[in-house]
Amino acid sequence: MSLLELDDVSVTYRIASGEVPAVRGVSLKLEAGSALGVAGESGSGKSTLAMALMRLLPADARVGGRILLGGEDVLAMKWGRLRAVRWAEASIVFQGAQHGLNPVRRIGDQIAEPMLVHGLAKPDVARKRVAELLDQVGLPAWRARSYPHELSGGQRQRIMIAMALACEPRLIIADEPTTALDVMVQAQVLTLIKDLVAQRGISLIMISHDLSVLADVCGRLAVMYAGRIVENGPSHEVFRDARHPYSKALAAAFPTVGDPLSRMAPKGLGGDPPDPMHLPSGCAFHPRCPIKADGCDTLDVELWPVGERRTAACVHVRTELEGS
Ligand SMILES: Nc1ncnc2c1ncn2[C@@H]1O[C@H](COP(=O)(O)OP(=O)(O)O)[C@@H](O)[C@H]1O
Ligand code: SF4
Ligand SMILES: [Mg+2]
Repeated sequence: MSLLELDDVSVTYRIASGEVPAVRGVSLKLEAGSALGVAGESGSGKSTLAMALMRLLPADARVGGRILLGGEDVLAMKWGRLRAVRWAEASIVFQGAQHGLNPVRRIGDQIAEPMLVHGLAKPDVARKRVAELLDQVGLPAWRARSYPHELSGGQRQRIMIAMALACEPRLIIADEPTTALDVMVQAQVLTLIKDLVAQRGISLIMISHDLSVLADVCGRLAVMYAGRIVENGPSHEVFRDARHPYSKALAAAFPTVGDPLSRMAPKGLGGDPPDPMHLPSGCAFHPRCPIKADGCDTLDVELWPVGERRTAACVHVRTELEGS
């Protein structure tokens, strides 16, 4: 059984001017102890998908499909069970979350809080565990007594990772965990996440618009465009030999890990990602596609297999399949 299984998951926000289909029919599997990267430009639905997994979406969001965590149906969980799952089984580290630390409470108390609240440890045990967690994220134990303003941005993001680890979850979802950090610190935090996943057998979903970062940390990659997965496969194959033109452009956009100069739009692509309220017909990528074929604007696009472990949602993949 997979640790996490998504089956045809969709998320639609209802707003005053209509409906925003932010995630459309996403199916994925994550095996225990493995790392999956989710890539895509801003607005492609990555954070919406992450929040759906933890049922953290606002009340105006409607979620469809099925999300199984350890075989349990997340969308059907009662509130009490969901709360327990959020700390003990899966936790999430958001982009810029370090700004959410309470400025007037010591770091150690904030790391210990979920353990105390969920009755996982008595205060003296929690204190010891805080020291261990700080050590795991590369900070000295005395930092437990510091206040958030006494730490750098990178150190605060390490604290967020320590908090995510506190209840020993089986899954960590990291949504752009390093985007707000400078390049050097970014590399350190990424190495930390990579080591934790490898050494502790924690499963990881890491979200980024930077394919090179994801390929470095994660075994598999899923590329999202306009709320859908357009390519899914082993990360080095997707990174080096993308089969969807959008993944190709993303891979070409970030030749160096964390290089701010390459942090631009995907290479060779004009235009912007579509507004989900006004999606192009057919393949949603067709207005920007450099290899658009006849009929791409009406095509009913789906994920076609590329070999045994990959899929890509492009008509050229289908044509190759038909020719083979
Ligand atoms: N609370 C919300 N209400 C309405 N639309 C939203 C809300 N949150 C996100 N969206 C829209 O959903 C789409 C996907 O957003 P998001 O999941 O944040 O993408 P990403 O994380 O890939 O940048 C975007 O078009 C965004 O404007
Ligand atoms: S289906 Fe057509 S428009 Fe879409 S990515 Fe493939 S070639 Fe481009
Ligand atoms: Mg996001």
